[in-house]
Amino acid sequence: SKVHKIAVIAGDGIGKEVMPEGLRVLDKVAARFDIQLQWSHFDWACADYYLAHGKMLPDDWFEQLRGFDAIYFGAVGWPDVVPDNISLWDSLLKFRRGFDQYVNLRPVRLLPGVPCPLANRKPEDIDFYVVRENTEGEYSNVGGRMFEGTDREFVIQQSTFTRKGVDRILKYAFELAQSRPKKHLTSATKSNGMAISMPYWDERVAAMAGQYPEVRQDSYHVDILAARFVLSPERFDVVVASNLFGDILSDLGPAVAGTIGIAASANLNPERNLPSLFEPVHGSAPDIFGKNIANPIAMIWSGAMMLDFIGNGDERYRQAHDVIIEAIEAVLVEGPRTPDMGGDADTTSVGKAIAERI
Ligand code: NAD
Ligand code: IPM
Ligand code: MN
Repeated sequence: SKVHKIAVIAGDGIGKEVMPEGLRVLDKVAARFDIQLQWSHFDWACADYYLAHGKMLPDDWFEQLRGFDAIYFGAVGWPDVVPDNISLWDSLLKFRRGFDQYVNLRPVRLLPGVPCPLANRKPEDIDFYVVRENTEGEYSNVGGRMFEGTDREFVIQQSTFTRKGVDRILKYAFELAQSRPKKHLTSATKSNGMAISMPYWDERVAAMAGQYPEVRQDSYHVDILAARFVLSPERFDVVVASNLFGDILSDLGPAVAGTIGIAASANLNPERNLPSLFEPVHGSAPDIFGKNIANPIAMIWSGAMMLDFIGNGDERYRQAHDVIIEAIEAVLVEGPRTPDMGGDADTTSVGKAIAERI
């Protein structure tokens, strides 16, 4: 069967600790389902590559990566060595933009066995997706500073909402909502405070809603939407948001569902002309690096999403995805668990326990 070439970038901090567990589980499931995965490792991160070369990536990063079927990514960022704006704009954000991974798909589920910070919630109460726009919006390096050091000092940062960019993320979200039993789409807006971009976003939502009559659609300003994530997460099915709002909501959602240590994400190029990238929602967690206590489940779950995506509808790959999720669920119920979920197990034991169940 087809050999899938996967670029592996473990990155910084706990990226280096959780990546081996992701690979362990994927190798196991690949063997069971006769899926051929070929790993190529790249040391592109702050702590090694940047220190040696003075940049985050080689100049030909695009050419080196474009032929891969997918990128499996840990986390990048080590603020003591490289300022975060440089390390992220010169790696992860370049991949998302350069490979046109305009969908950032982030599942939020309360899994059995995970302690939930909200009282009396059952797993079926929290089960939704954040669909985050991933290539434009509030994330920008366009703008500048003037009159630095004077009392007239000012800073401008532009944001961009293109018709193509807004419509394609909304279309993805409407399609996803349409495919789910509840068929409900919530749009994050802020058309009261942001006088130009968000009214435009709302207009495009309204224009597209007509094409999806079966989808129940509502919009909330992102401030009260954040509150509703906490107060009534059961009301959500698919939540679509601009780049920054989606970033914030996709840390909040998983926290409400127990821990960001299990939050997975897929940076998708749905047209598949360039590689997609699969990574945990969390970062390099310098505060816990080196202790081998990071939760590897976000990394492992992201690997399951990668298999499903590269399978492109093939039932075998879907099953491989499902088997990983089942193994995660079983380990969450029976242990071992890492400290972020009240356990005392280390990263490696959790990875091994999940792999053993496959
Ligand atoms: P972070 O996600 O790295 O950590 C936030 C908190 O969550 C920390 O207390 C950390 O210990 C905890 N945490 C994160 N992942 C965990 C896991 N798997 N298991 C247990 N606990 C976990 O966010 P931050 O502190 O804001 O950022 C640290 C660095 O990572 C920065 O350089 C930032 O820019 C970068 N970052 C990178 C990515 C990415 O590469 N996709 C994402 C977010 C942050
Ligand atoms: C994420 C991260 C990134 C983002 C950072 C590291 C640039 O927080 O993937 O959610 O904001 O997109
Ligand atoms: Mn984030």
